[in-house]
Amino acid sequence: MSKEIFAERLRTSMAQKGKKQVDLIRAASEHGVKLGKSHISQYVSGKTLPRPDILHFLADTLQVDADWLRGDEPAGAQAAAGDSGNSIHTIHKNNTVTGDRKMRTFKKSSKLDNVLYDVRGPVVDEAARMEESGTQILKLNIGNPAPFGFRTPDEVIYDMRQQLTECEGYSNAQGLFSARKAIMQYAQLKGIPNIAIEDIYTGNGVSELINICMSALLDDGDEILIPSPDYPLWTACATLAGGKAVHYICDEQSEWYPDIDDIRRKITDRTKAIVIINPNNPTGALYPKEVLQKIVDVAREHQLIIFSDEIYDRLVMDDEEHISIASLAPDLFCITFSGLSKSHMIAGFRIGWMILSGNKKVAKDYIEGLKMLSNMRLCSNVPAQSIVQTALGGHQSVHGYIEPGGRVREQRDYIYKALTDIPGISAVKPKAAFYIFPKIDVKRFNITNDEQFALDLLRDKKILLIHGGGFNWEQPDHFRVVYLPRIEVLKEATGKIADFFSYYKQQL
Ligand SMILES: Cc1ncc(COP(=O)(O)O)c(C=O)c1O
Repeated sequence: MSKEIFAERLRTSMAQKGKKQVDLIRAASEHGVKLGKSHISQYVSGKTLPRPDILHFLADTLQVDADWLRGDEPAGAQAAAGDSGNSIHTIHKNNTVTGDRKMRTFKKSSKLDNVLYDVRGPVVDEAARMEESGTQILKLNIGNPAPFGFRTPDEVIYDMRQQLTECEGYSNAQGLFSARKAIMQYAQLKGIPNIAIEDIYTGNGVSELINICMSALLDDGDEILIPSPDYPLWTACATLAGGKAVHYICDEQSEWYPDIDDIRRKITDRTKAIVIINPNNPTGALYPKEVLQKIVDVAREHQLIIFSDEIYDRLVMDDEEHISIASLAPDLFCITFSGLSKSHMIAGFRIGWMILSGNKKVAKDYIEGLKMLSNMRLCSNVPAQSIVQTALGGHQSVHGYIEPGGRVREQRDYIYKALTDIPGISAVKPKAAFYIFPKIDVKRFNITNDEQFALDLLRDKKILLIHGGGFNWEQPDHFRVVYLPRIEVLKEATGKIADFFSYYKQQL
């Protein structure tokens, strides 16, 4: 293959497909292909030739034949699949020609085209590649307590051991009676109205239940209001179900509370529900009663279902109190989500639950759908269900982390100060959970692409965090830090982040 012919065909194909170098780099990153800025500019200028795997990636992305791109076929060769006169092959890469036989390849479903879940996305893939090549990465990207030394309470482990042999079979599809009773009592203490055992569903984490709720509710084109920034699983599941996630703004100027006027503006005839995440991931906000009341008023006026993700409800600091929105809405249909992944530091056991409350009559048919999907997955992890009663009763070890002097609280105070001391970075102090969502002065650092910022930080400083876009935040001006690591580690990380911002100017 000749460098010049390859370069010329690459440039032509890029022009034809309207793709710039940055688009190819982004596509590569999304597909887990190693392709840096310097590589692509060398290919385009005819200085080097790509390896075969990169050549095939480029051909696939530009939808041209790899042999043609490589320069093995004459420039005038006609496309196999009816090219309209230009010289680029349009053999679709679903079918790669090997000898006389076409090899069938498999693409992911188009239902996933608009699904985004960057908490484990391209930046994380790049970190994994760096780790494979021996680089140590400091991970501030995922709210997984165990790797940071947050241990499951001993009593929980002891009780699970005791019951393990009784947990070999499937349980009732919604969950064990003892688990659901404990959850029901917990919900009653939070003032959630009109609940019985049959209104409680256990799940393999809240994650599974979010998926079930979205799949059972949304017809193609149905709209659901979801916060921006969000925990992206909500948007992903709504989209996968065929629904349209309509993002309402949470306002940084008002402690990241939902902007009620924005919510009102975005309601249409097709809006079925509103999601709130309280306490919030990624902002660490906790909503006061007045804000919750306003959301209830809007939901009442427009007859919306309220989904309230409260997985951090026991991780609230500064003597604040968490209020379940369902307790303010006895006349509306609400589903409240929580679990043990965060408060009991057992994210790996996979146990969460949802509580159906309030006006269940209006949702009779929807509840049937929830039951169907719940039955179809047979049941949630039974050993994990067996310790719900233990976990929810008696001493709550999580208190030790969030009271003054507690680990999470000290780490929160540390990260807030260390990040906001960096010129060009500001933040709202989180009140709950273990995340902070700082703002970047984008002009100062010339940032127009926050994913690129996260990649640059990763490559320069070996620190992995998630850019704001990963939380469906539209502006490229935020990132999320998980402050679960101990203060010594946070100190090292914030020192490196401060150094990075002392020289960083984004170049695209
Ligand atoms: C807001 C929120 N909801 C749900 C989940 C998923 O939790 P689970 O481990 O119960 O699936 C997370 C996990 O980070 C979260 O932050």
